[in-house]
Amino acid sequence: MYIIGGTASKTIAEDMSKKLQIPLAEIIIKRFPDNELYIRILDDISGEDVVIVQTTYPDQNIVELFLLQNAVKEAGATKITVIIPYFGYGRQDKKFEDGEPISAKAIANLVSLNADEIITIDPHKEHILDFFTIPTFSCSAVSELAKYLKKNNVNLVLAPDKGALDRARQTSSIIGCDFDYMEKTRIDGTTVEIKPKNLDAQDKNVAIIDDIISTGGTMAKSIKELKKYKAKKIFVSCTHGLFAGDAAKKLISAGCDEIISTDTIVNKFSKVRVSPCILQLLRSKQL
Ligand code: R5P
Repeated sequence: MYIIGGTASKTIAEDMSKKLQIPLAEIIIKRFPDNELYIRILDDISGEDVVIVQTTYPDQNIVELFLLQNAVKEAGATKITVIIPYFGYGRQDKKFEDGEPISAKAIANLVSLNADEIITIDPHKEHILDFFTIPTFSCSAVSELAKYLKKNNVNLVLAPDKGALDRARQTSSIIGCDFDYMEKTRIDGTTVEIKPKNLDAQDKNVAIIDDIISTGGTMAKSIKELKKYKAKKIFVSCTHGLFAGDAAKKLISAGCDEIISTDTIVNKFSKVRVSPCILQLLRSKQL
């Protein structure tokens, strides 16, 4: 058996390799002069079960995943498991307007071609799993994030909208504290409004949590609202930290004290590692 870590997901592949005592396959990934990607697997993986770990964000990592899958198939691997820590394009999970693609379905269909099973973490919506045409499983980073927040004495968990309410409930029950939510209306891709609400946050260490932080608009508005209630410390936390443009700056200037994300997308806020969640899923499903 071998594990292959794509460019976007090396930390997870390395952690899994260490914990499972399965070697990382040696690969060459480089670019041709015209910037097209070149991939080569150096180990003999013929007749082996192979696990490929690669986030499908940004776009170049999708192409890399397709090439890795094809290389593994062509080399004669027996079983191909694809772990997609962050499944990009998951938010276009339906046609919001006529003429649009269902992008999540388009990518899922293609990833399913050279794979036997898929694992992903905190998909934006659970029904996305049905777009893959092979067995697909998900696990959640909530427990690992909750452990981090607990260590930092968080004593109120806040969902920035009703969509994140379950996540807030689960997180607060692991920490052993209260949870609440705000009411968000999305105006467009970069603008949201948060309705004022009475929050019992005075002198508390509050964590606002979500699955994704993209432009930071949702979190920045939530922080500004929360500030009115005199919280002691404000943490913002998510599984998938896209931090598009100046998102991080926006969060800091809105008044947040700490930003926490995981290594599903590697950046300077990836303080929580998700390999334990994947390993737990592998054990429970005997994959
Ligand atoms: C939306 O449903 C998601 O859960 C996040 O709230 C959203 O993707 C965050 O986006 P942004 O950071 O651009 O406000």
